[in-house]
Amino acid sequence: MNYKHIYHAGNFADVAKHVGLMYCLEALQRKDGAIFALDSHAGRGFYDLQAPEAHKSGESEHGIQRLIETSIDEPLLAGYFAALRARRGKRLARYPGSPALIAGSLRTQDRALFVELMPAEARAAEREIESQGRVRTEIGDGYAALKAFLPPEERRGLVLIDPPYESLDELKQMLQAFSDAYRRWPGGIYLMWYPIRSAAQRSMVHARFEALGIPKMLVADLAIHPDDAGIGLAGSGLMIVNPPYGADEYLGDAYTAIHKGIATPDSGYVEVARLTPERMAQ
Ligand SMILES: C[S@@+](CC[C@H](N)C(=O)[O-])C[C@H]1O[C@@H](n2cnc3c(N)ncnc32)[C@H](O)[C@@H]1O
Repeated sequence: MNYKHIYHAGNFADVAKHVGLMYCLEALQRKDGAIFALDSHAGRGFYDLQAPEAHKSGESEHGIQRLIETSIDEPLLAGYFAALRARRGKRLARYPGSPALIAGSLRTQDRALFVELMPAEARAAEREIESQGRVRTEIGDGYAALKAFLPPEERRGLVLIDPPYESLDELKQMLQAFSDAYRRWPGGIYLMWYPIRSAAQRSMVHARFEALGIPKMLVADLAIHPDDAGIGLAGSGLMIVNPPYGADEYLGDAYTAIHKGIATPDSGYVEVARLTPERMAQ
């Protein structure tokens, strides 16, 4: 596997995904009961945005760095900026990945499991993460972890599935792993990230999710380039299953604010809409 998230950390897709993740965590914590979070493709805890790899790709410059410069006063993103420890006029050097964001938001009663295939990344996550809750990092296959650790004893919580899409059958593998997990734990919130590369590929991804016949799927897509621009990553897609109350409206507004802060005017779009109904017809 060649994928290294340090090249992409802090790009617009990371931002879109993490804003969705933080909303779902915050919504779960509106009640006192313990929650469980499983991050199946966790990466490391923090990314150094000054590292040569991050500089080389420049992706965070057009993502989180630009967003901080332009939108630090945006109230909808205040919680997200606070989690990043972003400050007005200050460039971000240390950027939290999903396990650091999850760990940072846990309460003493909550629990999280981070799974990462690359030993060096997993060890970095283990070293760097601090939390009030109980957290564990495992080196291994995230899809196998979905089988092994769901449903959780807490009964409330979320699963983030954020694979690198290096192999052609990643989508198929993710859909299979998700539908197996959903059968065992239909009450969990699932967030699954997918790249948007063209209009046709985006429609295909939506159709493949819809074909699973699972209710309560919310599409949260944010594109900063035209779908058919031929640019590697035109947009960021997030499928949220069992979205918490308020997610549709919040993400529609938050993604519009992010789009305004990052995209060039008239490029790309925001679409936050239900893909499947509350109940499937029998
Ligand atoms: C997109 S990155 C994750 C980013 C992270 N979730 C975040 O938001 O900060 C994908 C990660 O999955 C890891 N990975 C690839 N295949 C995996 C597998 N089968 N199981 C677990 N991790 C895997 C890669 O090493 C990489 O660190």
